[in-house]
Amino acid sequence: MTTDHIHFPDAFLWGTATSGYQIEGGDANTDWYRFERDPESGTAEPCGDACDSWNRYEEDLDIIQSLGLNAYRFSIEWSRIEPTKGEISQSALEHYRDVIAGCRRRSILPVVTLHHFTLPLWVADAGGFESPEIVKWIGNYAKVVGEALGDGIGIACTVNEPNIVALMGYLMASFPPKVSSWERFVDVNRVMRACHVAMRDALRAGPGNYPIGFALSMQEYEAVDGGDDLVNSLRQEMEDEYLRSCSGDDFIGVQCYTKIIIDANGLVENFDGERTEMGYLFWPRCVEYTVRRAAQFTDLPIIVTENGIGTNDDDQRIRYLLEALKGLKEVQDEGVDVRGYFQWSLLDNFEWTFGYRPKFGIVAVDRTTFARSPKPSAQWYGEAARNYPHSVASIP
Ligand code: BGC
Repeated sequence: MTTDHIHFPDAFLWGTATSGYQIEGGDANTDWYRFERDPESGTAEPCGDACDSWNRYEEDLDIIQSLGLNAYRFSIEWSRIEPTKGEISQSALEHYRDVIAGCRRRSILPVVTLHHFTLPLWVADAGGFESPEIVKWIGNYAKVVGEALGDGIGIACTVNEPNIVALMGYLMASFPPKVSSWERFVDVNRVMRACHVAMRDALRAGPGNYPIGFALSMQEYEAVDGGDDLVNSLRQEMEDEYLRSCSGDDFIGVQCYTKIIIDANGLVENFDGERTEMGYLFWPRCVEYTVRRAAQFTDLPIIVTENGIGTNDDDQRIRYLLEALKGLKEVQDEGVDVRGYFQWSLLDNFEWTFGYRPKFGIVAVDRTTFARSPKPSAQWYGEAARNYPHSVASIP
């Protein structure tokens, strides 16, 4: 199939990103809702009302517009659209149509993710990504979404970080379904790639001519003390197989946060250097590293669909973003086809097993009133984006 008709936006995309479950609130019909209530899950607290963005999305869009950003990446929840197998909620589709229309009214490009970590309970109970029917089910969900929303979507990400779903759910036992098996991790990665293709093809068959791809979690890996073999196997499963598989797509989404150090025994947690609130190494240059690495595998346009920092120190966030944008400029100067950058995240939101402690937002959210307060980094990022590349030119 030729993709010549695909419409890529002319302007570089300066965006911010969120996901449905992390900000909407009140979605009891997912595997995560059940997981976070299980004392064995290790989740700090339940998601609860999140940022109440299900009701306050207009306010969120107003903030994005006021910062001068031209794109918003958010996700839609399968559990809301298909609460039980085969039952489609028209009101949920209507809601997401309204969010897309709200973006369009404000000249914000809606970048829509179809799967961001959560599964409807009926899917999870039937085996989740290990069910023999998952590819069919998720493809059908994409068909429903494409038919209902396709004429408004600006860009679609089928799956967010399919490799993290596999890693955290099936190898590290930190996300549902809390499994720890290299074989099952490898299998689920393969299934995720098949899910992506089914979703992509279903979206393409519907209205609209927007670019479609998936958003991959990438790392800058450093091997120390005999860690080379493990780094090679991890890269193979977490990145290379995915990067080799995307030739039929319209773009590749790259997401990165840090550099990971690996020795012969696995992740090295005791290292020198500035840390973020997540305990990660403060390493904004991972942007240029991962974008460059993705470009070694594919000529597709690249979008940095997530990058950011969890921190209580907003000055640290500004420093991080500045260095990240500086790296972005370097890869662009080298001629890499980068079409956009999405800061994670618009709001301080539900950070999965960590609960609400990590602050990834450029906008603070009061946990009782849900009042939004843009931080200095929000103004800084809006201005930096509008003035890029001049805003990074002065950095030594
Ligand atoms: C995920 C987000 C998460 C962010 C920060 C990414 O892996 O897509 O859902 O909040 O990282 O940890």
